[in-house]
Amino acid sequence: MNEKQRLESAQVSTGNSPDKKSEKDYSRFFETVYTAPSLKDAKKRGKEEVKYHNDFAIPEEFREMGKGRKFYIRTYGCQMNEHDTEVMAGILMALGYEPTNGVEDANVILLNTCAIRENAENKVFGELGHLKALKLEKPDLLLGVCGCMSQEESVVNRILSKHSFVDMIFGTHNIHRLPNILQEAYLSKEMVVEVWSKEGDVIENLPKVRKGKIKGWVNIMYGCDKFCTYCIVPYTRGKERSRRPEEIIQEVRHLAAQGYKEITLLGQNVNAYGKDLTDIQYGLGDLMDEIRKIDIPRIRFTTSHPRDFDDHLIEVLAKGGNLVEHIHLPVQSGSTDVLKIMARKYTREQYLELVRKIKAAIPGATLTTDIIVGYPNETEEQFEETMSLYREVGFDSAYTFIYSPREGTPAAKMVDNVPMEVKKERLQKLNALVNEYAAQRMKDHQDQIVEVLVEGESKKNPDVLAGYTRKNKLVNFKGPKSAVGQIVKVKITSANTWSLNGDMIVEEKAEVLI
Ligand code: SAH
Ligand code: SF4
Ligand code: F3S
Repeated sequence: MNEKQRLESAQVSTGNSPDKKSEKDYSRFFETVYTAPSLKDAKKRGKEEVKYHNDFAIPEEFREMGKGRKFYIRTYGCQMNEHDTEVMAGILMALGYEPTNGVEDANVILLNTCAIRENAENKVFGELGHLKALKLEKPDLLLGVCGCMSQEESVVNRILSKHSFVDMIFGTHNIHRLPNILQEAYLSKEMVVEVWSKEGDVIENLPKVRKGKIKGWVNIMYGCDKFCTYCIVPYTRGKERSRRPEEIIQEVRHLAAQGYKEITLLGQNVNAYGKDLTDIQYGLGDLMDEIRKIDIPRIRFTTSHPRDFDDHLIEVLAKGGNLVEHIHLPVQSGSTDVLKIMARKYTREQYLELVRKIKAAIPGATLTTDIIVGYPNETEEQFEETMSLYREVGFDSAYTFIYSPREGTPAAKMVDNVPMEVKKERLQKLNALVNEYAAQRMKDHQDQIVEVLVEGESKKNPDVLAGYTRKNKLVNFKGPKSAVGQIVKVKITSANTWSLNGDMIVEEKAEVLI
């Protein structure tokens, strides 16, 4: 069946969240639903209030759906996606499915995709190519594409025309609809496409099966309204919606009671937390001030936008305790002119001033960042400004990227005079600087005693344990397996660029210096 036939046979309902009519259609299950994404709709920011739903339940008739069946989810992209995978795993297990570690014996395979750069998307299309053979061998296998790529109409169209063996495509706002989407896919011969483009809702009580028992993620907000000119996220994740503080606090408390040692609060722009809560004046600083009182050893948050990082938050972080002294603060560029074209809404000077305030208030504060090189028309001088800013701040490490045009974003339409060769050279030069600083920061740990949250055996050597410091440095050391899940003291004996080696110390009184 070609795309045209598929679209004709599918029940087409374009637009956003289903209206009354299509909701009724959904309950019929014998017709395929086709709700296409639209980047244009996704861009709109309406005034309608966020609706909070606390009534999610697995419909009675679906409870046996997964009996005797296994699922496998492959996750691409950021922590937000990793956490969405935990929610989907929770829903699948509530439906009776069991997890499996490989695609071969899975009855349902989901690719939870990322759209941030072209190479992230290419990986997914490559994987779809591999899975085609498996799907031909096992026609009963259900293959689904979800996550940020499914919010792009170009991706949906490409899958419809070139990868028609895919059974379902559903969007980031449709995760709670997974039981219905699966049911639809079992009953239908057509591809089920359900992608809502604009969403003002927060669905609270979704089941979750977390990947680990030591570190956990907690969403504090969804979406992004910043619209940096290069970025697809505001289109794939919708408008900013904050969870209610009491829901977040309850979830963190619950994880603490279960023995979790570290929580990372998640949002695309966590510093905008609370701005959309109309009945209370409550921001990230207020939330952190509450959460620090919970009996859990470590609290992190990601990702910060420099523009909204306010003094109250700095004040609260300076109280230390379980609030770790590591802040990921993406700068993107050291040139005020490039920052302006990126619509980051701060200047080089404002960023440096923020860094100065953070360092003055929080002793030993460690900063990491994200940087894009080769922005359209970036000059050599502008790139050098990024290099000099890196040195001036003295970041511990950075994620560095070559700019990748994303269809539908303003930057994708910009004429670009920087050849790819030049972009690659700039990336190499920047990476050399990042490595130099990372190695130096690691060397600073030599002979120091650090606190390590032990996560398990080292990936490279099962005789060695591995864990992270408060500042997120990887430490490998010899120690008893009983230390896994605990915070132990380790004396650093040697440093590599990206990890430290050390010996566990048992004396109670050893003083932690770093
Ligand atoms: N919400 C986070 C960023 C999420 S995306 C923030 O604002 O900090 C993670 C990183 O990917 C960004 O910080 C940026 O450095 C990079 N990135 C985003 N879009 C990109 C693009 N089109 N090309 C290259 N890198 C990009
Ligand atoms: Fe993208 Fe900017 Fe939003 Fe971060 S703040 S998700 S870079 S638009
Ligand atoms: Fe990628 Fe979506 Fe995260 S585009 S980086 S998975 S929000």
